[in-house]
Amino acid sequence: MSTKFAGVKGMNDLRSPQIEIWQRIEGIARSLFARYGYSEIRTPIVEETALFVRSVGEVTEIVGKEMYTFTDKGDRSISMRPEGTAPAARAYIEHSIANTEPLTRWFYMGPMFRYERMKTGRYRQFYQLGAEAYGALDPAQDVEVIALCDAFFKQIGVPDVVLHLNSLGDGSTRPAYLEALKQHFAPVLEVMSAEAKLAYEKNTMRLLDSKEPALQDAIASAPTILDSIDEGSKKHFDDVQRMLTKLGIPFELDRRLVRGLDYYTRTTFEFIYQPKGENALGTAGTVCGGGRYDRLVHELGGPEKPAVGFAMGLDRLVLLVEKLKPVERGGPTLFIGTFEGPERDDAIALVMRLRNEGFDVDFDPRGGNKLGKQKERASKVNAAWFAGYGGDEHKSGKLKIDNMRLPKDAPREQVEISLDGLRAWLNAASKRPS
Ligand code: HAM
Repeated sequence: MSTKFAGVKGMNDLRSPQIEIWQRIEGIARSLFARYGYSEIRTPIVEETALFVRSVGEVTEIVGKEMYTFTDKGDRSISMRPEGTAPAARAYIEHSIANTEPLTRWFYMGPMFRYERMKTGRYRQFYQLGAEAYGALDPAQDVEVIALCDAFFKQIGVPDVVLHLNSLGDGSTRPAYLEALKQHFAPVLEVMSAEAKLAYEKNTMRLLDSKEPALQDAIASAPTILDSIDEGSKKHFDDVQRMLTKLGIPFELDRRLVRGLDYYTRTTFEFIYQPKGENALGTAGTVCGGGRYDRLVHELGGPEKPAVGFAMGLDRLVLLVEKLKPVERGGPTLFIGTFEGPERDDAIALVMRLRNEGFDVDFDPRGGNKLGKQKERASKVNAAWFAGYGGDEHKSGKLKIDNMRLPKDAPREQVEISLDGLRAWLNAASKRPS
């Protein structure tokens, strides 16, 4: 008995018709990001585990619970990347990019891996579209990356994404803030899970992220970092808000937005899908998260370089686009039906030649099928026109071409085109709206 395999839980096969949406979104991203001055970086799927521990943080959900980690044959601890910021920073440092260019803007697209509890919009292999800009401390850089996100959502046709904005300060006032948080949470220590207690001890800000019901009141009344933010960060944050207003990008201040990764300083932001009616993403509505991380490059052994970036969840965006703006079905311009006999080779050769010349032409490679069956196939692949090519056509050098995209009760539309004039006709037909 042979075994039937299934894909690994939480990891999806992406195929037609959704794949056409993926490709369209990725195409828009490539041209938009290029226009904003971002070039692509592709890093490996795996990195040394320590890279993520040092950057994302030991006491985070991602590193603590969700990484796919294994020991390779050389006895190294390796992890499948759960995110793209740390690998990009590693590459930026490893290739001494800062020595040759003062300002670097990268984007990336690719799969990330987190062992999460699955639901709609949350998977174990998911795809991020991200951008990272190194070298600019100015608030204009924060605003540029946010404006890039905003433009992208508009171009792919996803409305109702709300920008949530916060600042975590530059880190200098953080010890005082953490102390205040500790005092605030001390009375509820008893009701905390072991995990929350660990966060309390090692990374108190993470508690603001906690979903534990017993902590929600304390979280709601917790002091916010904006109460104790340093002067420089406050000015930076004011500037970001002023410029966003100037650009007409609305935002909501969200003082609890600490994000689930440890490397952030100053600006943090998320775009959350918040439609008026039903929410196709349920609670997985965050379609983008990002922020500034001015210390990370140095902490990973590189030069002092400020940076800011974001990553979007492409799976979630594809779900939304599929719901809101289904792609129009494409299809070949012409489908050529063939007959058994010596002319079949000529018909097939014509299909291949036309394809190589750039025309979208299809046929049924199975052979033996009646013309009617081939026509059914043509209609299944949404061909615009259909023509049989057999002995008569070969002899006369003419094709009778039928319109396949007519409304049900419309009269038949057939044109007769000579093989010599076929290219000119195909050129016109491929431009004709159907
Ligand atoms: P993140 O918030 O962990 O940030 O992830 C960014 C986005 O990836 C989320 O907003 C969500 O849309 C998507 N995402 C995360 N986990 C999943 C999942 N399991 N299934 C589907 N989508 C998911 C980061 O990863 C940072 N590296 C972002 C960043 C770049 N910050 C600065 N530069």
